[in-house]
Amino acid sequence: MPETLAEAVARRRTFAIISHPDAGKTTLTEKLLLFGGAIQLAGEVKAKKDRIQTRSDWMKIERERGISVVTSVMTFEYDNTVFNLLDTPGHEDFADDTYRTLTAVDAAIMVIDAAKGIEPRTLKLFEVCRLRDIPIITFVNKMDREARDTFEILEEVQEKLALDTVPMTWPIGQGKSFAGTYHLKESAVRYGDSEVGLTKVNGPEVVSEKLPEHERQEWAEMAELAIDGYPVFDRQAFLEGHMTPVYFGSALRNNGVRDLIHALSDFAPAPRAQVADVRTVEATDPKMSAFVFKIQANMDPNHRDRIAFVRVCSGTLTRGMKARLARTGKQMGLTAPQFFFASQRQLADTAYAGDVVGIPNHGALRIGDTLTDGEALVFQGVPNFAPEILRRVRLEDAMKAKKLKEALQQMAEEGVVQLFTPEDGSPAIVGVVGALQLDVLKERLKAEYGLPVSFEMARFSVCRWISAEKNADLEKFISGHRGDIARDLDGDPVFLAQDGFSLNYESERAPEIRMIAIKEYHQAKAA
Ligand code: G4P
Repeated sequence: MPETLAEAVARRRTFAIISHPDAGKTTLTEKLLLFGGAIQLAGEVKAKKDRIQTRSDWMKIERERGISVVTSVMTFEYDNTVFNLLDTPGHEDFADDTYRTLTAVDAAIMVIDAAKGIEPRTLKLFEVCRLRDIPIITFVNKMDREARDTFEILEEVQEKLALDTVPMTWPIGQGKSFAGTYHLKESAVRYGDSEVGLTKVNGPEVVSEKLPEHERQEWAEMAELAIDGYPVFDRQAFLEGHMTPVYFGSALRNNGVRDLIHALSDFAPAPRAQVADVRTVEATDPKMSAFVFKIQANMDPNHRDRIAFVRVCSGTLTRGMKARLARTGKQMGLTAPQFFFASQRQLADTAYAGDVVGIPNHGALRIGDTLTDGEALVFQGVPNFAPEILRRVRLEDAMKAKKLKEALQQMAEEGVVQLFTPEDGSPAIVGVVGALQLDVLKERLKAEYGLPVSFEMARFSVCRWISAEKNADLEKFISGHRGDIARDLDGDPVFLAQDGFSLNYESERAPEIRMIAIKEYHQAKAA
């Protein structure tokens, strides 16, 4: 019997991994894919070259493994559960890309280095998850190395993230003596991921035989303390983002990853309802809806294609269907939607809510776009962050200004940079969150459009989207600041300020003007 939509939704988990660089995200990703049979492992992840230029952690895997995984999503199946793992770039210069990706997941694994605890980027990404009520499963990695005290790590997570922690497993030793994990609730052990099942034991003292003699007694006492000292795992509190189950292990040594997969299938939510302007859309709603959270160009160097990654929010997306693009109200045929696995792409005949598919297109789709099977609705919440660096683009060949304009427009639609067109007719300004984005822009303008460019400081360093209750107030402000106003890709006005000081000054002088640093895409822009 074919699978119903409800059944298909129930067995899907769409998630991302968040961590500070070096905590082990790449290694863990590789191990998860290995479990899903998505890759055949030939060795361990080796030296990381060019870390700075690594846009995607998966590019690293690709270089090291010689397989093609340069994609934003990887789908794999384990034990009848379909996992969609979304990649988030490792480098903070691409943070806005990461934030957009997090709008498309239902859960996240937070990887912590056992020697380092909560690091700055972990904290930042966690905060984004919290804003979006994304439940978090914690993985304390690198237990095979010298690690901090286990209780101390738990306390730090609890305090820094204001999150109730519940250890689900307890490390058996650490560093050289790390032997596996003890499952606190089940009183069972798993010494490595190659063990499929858990082995029941009669309490922690039995386990400690794996440890050097002088560590045994203390370990058994600590494990008893852990059993009594933490709240019972409450799935509801986890789903609401108040509680995190914590697992220990070593991704490198194949330890603890199997538990993590089980945690995802047992506790992480099936595709969640998504908020649109006119209503909340349940995943099991039979009408198809989806939104674009990422656009990737040049995935295949032989074809100059652009893939829009969409998260299906409800119903089924079928190959060949016609979808309505909310921004324009026009229909577009979805002739070749694709699934991504580690070493191949595959045409997606049917994708269910929770799935992520790539839609090849030639610029019709932009980040934040909503697709439906007819209904006029727009999903909220793919954010646009006020850039922190503003630059003017200087062309080496001034005759190519028109081509540059088109190229910048495309780059902005893909989310590579943001583009602001000043009202006074002066040259366009590009805005980015991190300097590496400018490098990517420069490289791509040269390689793809034959446009060598350089960047010049703009007179401005801060920008804010502006709006007002009364349109007349907005118009007045705009005409009074003509030289400091630009329009973004959607034609929305932004105020450009020289620095934070002048921004504050202007905003105090014009209290009727709202100046915002985060814009949700296409707010109230349903055609
Ligand atoms: P990232 O994507 O979060 O940046 O981290 P990545 O997986 O690349 O791991 C960072 C480093 O930590 C790598 O070492 C990796 O091998 C190591 N690592 C990851 N997980 C574990 C673990 O569980 N235990 C131990 N001991 N190490 C782990 P590297 O020095 O950059 O590369 P390599 O030459 O050692 O492979």
